Amino acid sequence: MSSEVEDKIFKYFMKYGSHYDENCTDFIVRNMEEYLRTGKPVDVISQVAYAIGERPEVGETRYDTFFEYLKQNGHLDKNILEVSCGRYPALADMIDKYQRRTGVGTIAAYDPCLVTTRLGNIKLYRDFFNHDTDISAYTLLTGLYPCHTTLNIIRKANAEDKDFVIGLCGCIHSFNEPKVRPEPTYEGWLGHLQEVAQRTVHDDREIVLEDVKGLKYPVISSRRKMK
Ligand SMILES: C[S@@+](CC[C@H](N)C(=O)[O-])C[C@H]1O[C@@H](n2cnc3c(N)ncnc32)[C@H](O)[C@@H]1O
Repeated sequence: MSSEVEDKIFKYFMKYGSHYDENCTDFIVRNMEEYLRTGKPVDVISQVAYAIGERPEVGETRYDTFFEYLKQNGHLDKNILEVSCGRYPALADMIDKYQRRTGVGTIAAYDPCLVTTRLGNIKLYRDFFNHDTDISAYTLLTGLYPCHTTLNIIRKANAEDKDFVIGLCGCIHSFNEPKVRPEPTYEGWLGHLQEVAQRTVHDDREIVLEDVKGLKYPVISSRRKMK
């Protein structure tokens, strides 16, 4: 980690810090402290590093790896809704730039904490995604580390028979989910996600949970079965 990158990150917050929600100040400070301690950018700091064009991580960022995964699997020409895009929508920006080069597909993104609502051709919604969100315009729902919204994306995509691809984070949001009590574990959470996804998906689709090289946590997706 270079002090030049640290300086740029501090300057970014001096300039745009006031656009961040007040409640997340402690969270940002914790993220920054962790970055300074470990050299590994987490959450808000990964987004800022992307925004200022820096790559403090060794190797590819999760945005690069997940973007490449979407590309390899033919998803980028779809009409995509990214849920929980973060305060700065790094992945959506990569998708938008790619789609502007190819001229195919659209990208929209939801997050209640967005610091901007204008970036390229991305349709940005500073709002909560929930079961009432209108997704009729989209052919793919995606999310990278969508955390609390993971199950919402799965349920909503399945209810409306849409493709979904989610790059999971390492959190377990199952404490209110009786099925994985009394000892929630990450494996239990993965099992629960698969169970909900399988139970709610249309018959002609399959749910896939896979490890992807370069991503710390698995990707869960729904796709039409091959005929
Ligand atoms: C762990 S962050 C991931 C951000 C981004 N995808 C990334 O990888 O950098 C999870 C995000 O989910 C957002 N979020 C929480 N509830 C949400 C909801 N109901 N709809 C949309 N986003 C939500 C939070 O504001 C936060 O930015």
